[in-house]
Amino acid sequence: MTKIKDELEELAGLLRLKPRIAVLTGAGISAESGIPTFRGKDGLWKEFRAEELATPEAFFRDPRLVWEWYDWRRGIIGSKNPHPGHYVLANWEKIFPDFILITQNVDGLHRKAGSGNILELHGNIWEMRCTREGTILENRQTPLPEIPPRCSACGALLRPNVVWFGEALPAETLEQATAASSSCDLMFVIGTSAYVQPAASLPLLAAQNGAKIIEINPEPTPLSASADFAFQAAAGEALPEIDRAIGRFGLG
Ligand code: APR
Repeated sequence: MTKIKDELEELAGLLRLKPRIAVLTGAGISAESGIPTFRGKDGLWKEFRAEELATPEAFFRDPRLVWEWYDWRRGIIGSKNPHPGHYVLANWEKIFPDFILITQNVDGLHRKAGSGNILELHGNIWEMRCTREGTILENRQTPLPEIPPRCSACGALLRPNVVWFGEALPAETLEQATAASSSCDLMFVIGTSAYVQPAASLPLLAAQNGAKIIEINPEPTPLSASADFAFQAAAGEALPEIDRAIGRFGLG
């Protein structure tokens, strides 16, 4: 406990200087809200085959199957709420003048917690995109009245506005995430297996540019050994703990 306490105090000392902060989150930050991760014990990819559900080929082969799966996921996600960890990050956005949240999650829980300065690298499950015109529309209906849903303007298939395997990330979003990663002083890496590219390279880019890396994950990842701080804890516990520590410095 003393080691964690010392690390907390050291980190709080750094945060007191109001550094430029970038936060990268993954599925693990939503685990305590009841949303399954992808590669954890009961992860989605243990139960479902990504190549049958999360690729453009799979979608055009069987859009009904893919939409049935997204409708199921939207049903789960729609019933879940952010936890204290999400709210700490939303509050830090107000405390730290240079703060950005980069997420791989499509669940929208960061927004639900009040985060605004956010880059959704892999899209958002509450958005749909017309496969002919490319227009993006928000849709929060669960269950969906029509599967597969169609564009009301041109009748073409709508697809989830998320990034599938084999697809490029939205160029502008990735550019902003790369710029923020290479110019931050501190990068928190929370709840990601640091496995999927290009997101997994952002912490390395930050470290190469002199940033300190703070990992929060109950399990070790390829990043843990090189992180400056590695809190092997759940996000919903560690973030409030860190927030309390900076509170002792009159921040927050
Ligand atoms: N708090 C913090 N981390 C947690 C928690 C928790 N309560 N519970 C689990 N974790 C960690 C796990 O130990 C694991 O390292 O979260 C990580 C989740 O890893 P993945 O399931 O691989 O999710 P992620 O890294 O976000 O996946 C990246 O892969 O499938 C694609 O597009 C999908 O965005 C996703 C991308």
